[in-house]
Order: sequence, then structure tokens, then C-alpha cells
Amino acid sequence: MRNRRAAVAAMATAASLALTLTACGQSGSGGSKEDKGDSKGGTIGIAMPTKSSERWISDGKNVVADLKAKGYQTKLVYGEDDPDTQVSQIENLITQGVKGLIIAAIDNKSLNNVLQEAADAHIPVISYDRLILGSKNVDYYASFDNEKVGELQAGYIVDKLGLKSGKGPFNIELFAGSNDDNNTKYFFNGAMTVLKPYLDSKKLVVRSGQTALNQVTTLRWDGATAQKRMDDVLTSSYKSQRVDAVLSPYDGISIGVLSALKSDGYGSGSKPLPVITGQDAELASVKSIIAGQQTQTVYKDLRKLADVASTMVDDALKGKKPEVNDTKSYDNGTKVVPAYLLQPVSVDKANYEEVLVKGGYYTDAQLK
Ligand code: GAL
Repeated sequence: MRNRRAAVAAMATAASLALTLTACGQSGSGGSKEDKGDSKGGTIGIAMPTKSSERWISDGKNVVADLKAKGYQTKLVYGEDDPDTQVSQIENLITQGVKGLIIAAIDNKSLNNVLQEAADAHIPVISYDRLILGSKNVDYYASFDNEKVGELQAGYIVDKLGLKSGKGPFNIELFAGSNDDNNTKYFFNGAMTVLKPYLDSKKLVVRSGQTALNQVTTLRWDGATAQKRMDDVLTSSYKSQRVDAVLSPYDGISIGVLSALKSDGYGSGSKPLPVITGQDAELASVKSIIAGQQTQTVYKDLRKLADVASTMVDDALKGKKPEVNDTKSYDNGTKVVPAYLLQPVSVDKANYEEVLVKGGYYTDAQLK
């Protein structure tokens, strides 16, 4: 199974992936060396990036629950956003005899050596949400259509500002994710494709002048880092101007940006808050949307992602070819990694009830 490219293109539109709803999973079960020949009852290692964001906590729980339902034991570790910690955690998982690995990388380029160890031990590796780069030892990729995420964020700004009907000019500032996360450029490029015509026609103006990806990234997606940059931009470029929109790629960044704006008097009196996008539909951001602060988020159903990833590892261990629906978009530098991409959904105040509450992602009580 290892290291082969998926032979069949675009197989999977009709994927009826059984969704295992979020159930509280236990981490760290099992432990001793497993018999790698037996697909049931073995242990799968799950390496997640950080507990500082709610989404990865849900991801961990969901993957654990799905794997348990398939008869596996699990070991779930969090790398506290430190690439070296994640590498040694994965090394430990391999030493402990896991049969498969599901990894959401912290630094997408730091895993080459440890994944060679996994390959030597015949352990299939699923890249979870973030593509691992530079290693041939990544078997499958489970994620969302990441370019579409950026398109949804930028499209929302275009609609909200009325740019299609000729309104403008408006001031916008751009934020991107961590430069060591492969998703960052997909989100940013997707958004910039949509924004470019309006930037070219000057209907959208970036007063800070910071429009290149390397000027707008936010290391480790850190909200405080984004808040600091927004503070600086407001001080340097908006003394006599108002910012009308902020492209934010992730809810944690949006919350940081909002703090900077509020400290500068936005959201009261003659300074309305700008349109602010986001991603992940984290609880704090959905509440902020309901309260009229953050404007939009991109919802990615993590229950489905967990299901795809755990089904992939299960199939790979059973010698079955995992279902993929993209065999060309995700080149990691050494191979095109066969991927299953799910669809993201734009959420704002008008549709959160329909999408998030009726969809069973949150209850009304959680959003109070
Ligand atoms: C990305 C992920 C986003 C967001 C971000 C920060 O890799 O695709 O949904 O969670 O990390 O955690």
C-alpha cells in the first residue's frame, strides 16, 4: 500500500461516509506493542498540534471516538505548538508500536525523518487537515477544499460591501495564517483571487500597503500576534481613515483583530466595526457573530473530517484502497498526495441557526 499514488481520479462524489457524531473519546488508551498483522484491536497514534484552540480538542475527541467504533485503541498527543515536541511525540508513538498514524502537523516541513521511521515500521500515515511537506512517506490527506475557504471569506467581504454593485472605495486589511502551515497559502490565494479585481480597480485599498503573503502571516495562528499587528496597522495607517473590512483566515485571529479594533474605538459611536471574516466556527466566534462583532466564519464539519481520516487509516490497514476525491491538487514536493477534500460552508448571523444548530454542531444553549 505504501507510497503508491492513487490510480483512480475523482472517485468519490457519492461518498456516503457514515458520520460518527461527536462522542467523548478517551485518550491514551492501550499502550503495549501491537501485532501489526491484526487490523482489529491495534493502536492508532493521533498527533494533534495544540490544545490552545478548541477545534483541535474536538478533532482529537472525534478521531478517538471514530477509531474506537472501528475496534482500535488510540493514543492521542498534543504538541503544544512546538515542532520539536511533536517530532518526539511521534517517535514515541512509533516506539510504542502504533499500527497507523494520523497527524495534524505543527510545522509541515519538520517531519521528514520521523516519517521515515514510520515507513520503516510499515506504519501508514494520514496527513490530517494540514498537508505534510517534503516527505514521500505520507500516504493520504484528509482535509477540506482549502482554496474554497479563502474564496468564501473574500466572497463574503465582496457581497457585504456591495462591491459588485459598484460601491466603494473601501479600506481593507489582510491577515494570513502561519507560514509553516501548508493551508495558509491556499486560504490566502483563494481569497486574493476573489479580491484582486477590486484591489486592481482601487475599489478596495490596503492602506498599510501589506498585501504580500510574507507581510501578513501570523506565526502559529496566534491571536495575540494578530492583535499586535492590527494595533500597529491602525496606528500607522488609519489615523484619519476607517478600516471597512478585515480578511481573517481563522477565528482565533479574528478575535485578536477585534480586540485591537475595540481598543481603537471601533464598535461604538461613529466607528462601526468592519466586516471581519474567520474560520472554524469556534464557539467564541459564533457567539461573537451572534453579538454582531465578528461578521462571518467558515464552518468545517470536523465530525466528517475525523470520519474520513479514521476510515482512511482503517482501509489502509485492511489493504483496501481508501476513497479519495482529489489526486492532483496537493503536491507535497515529493509526491502528489491522494486526498479526500470536504466542502466548507460560510456562516454568519443569518444562517448559523440553520447550519450549526440544526446541523447538530452546537446546541442553542451552548450559544447563549
Ligand atoms: C489550519 C486549519 C484551520 C485553522 C488553523 C489554526 O491548518 O485548516 O481550520 O484551524 O489551522 O488552527
